[in-house]
Amino acid sequence: MQAPFFYVLNWKMYLNYQEQLHWCDNNRTALQELVQANKNTRIVICPSFVALPSVHGLLMDTNIFTGAQTISSHPSGPFTGQIDAQSLADVGCAYCIVGHSERRTEFHETDTQVAEQVIQLIKHNITPIVCVGETKEQKEAGETVTIIREQLLPIAEVISSTKTTKPVSLVIAYEPVWAIGGITTPSKKEIEMVFAAIKNEARNLIPTTPLTLLYGGSVDETTMQELYKIHDLGGFLLGRASLDFQKLKNIVTWSK
Ligand code: PGA
Repeated sequence: MQAPFFYVLNWKMYLNYQEQLHWCDNNRTALQELVQANKNTRIVICPSFVALPSVHGLLMDTNIFTGAQTISSHPSGPFTGQIDAQSLADVGCAYCIVGHSERRTEFHETDTQVAEQVIQLIKHNITPIVCVGETKEQKEAGETVTIIREQLLPIAEVISSTKTTKPVSLVIAYEPVWAIGGITTPSKKEIEMVFAAIKNEARNLIPTTPLTLLYGGSVDETTMQELYKIHDLGGFLLGRASLDFQKLKNIVTWSK
């Protein structure tokens, strides 16, 4: 069976509760048709926590998946404002983004915490979508691959030490911090270099874990035409472009 090609829609905090529900209500049928017409397309909508159960309910009998934007690194306990992985599983979440640069910067999430989040997700059969990426300064200092390795290492360690009989799969999204929310993207060659480093690391540390590689950061109808040619690309993580159904449709249709 051919692996799915992902479009992960990271809605961040762009839409309020009602807007998120309207978006799904208005585009439910068209989304299903889009997936049916474009074989192996997997759309994962990541709304806010509060909208997640309702969005999941609206998309229940469709071929569209839902995901969360982050998760607690703890299973339960005195963690005010946090959401546990069991609850995500209870509301039908199949995927969860972790380690997004906005979480790392705004909420000081560390590589170790991201690895702990991954473990929580694996325990509840939710596929982690791990974001990795360097800042502009790190890129300029030639540290891209070192930084990505540092971000991946604790994750690979926890996966390889987890005793589970269930198959674990991992989605890694390369999102250069400097490319998020802007207009610039790395070149195809730069992304392929990072993809090769990620694959190499995974091959050594977690050789039996199936890996999907996504690119994220300023993907839209214009940038994706070049980005789509990236070798080994398993899909895109979309921020702003995911809010406009017509843009999303153009991106999915163009890729096929
Ligand atoms: P962007 O965001 O597509 O708006 O650049 C991507 C992301 O942060 O995941």
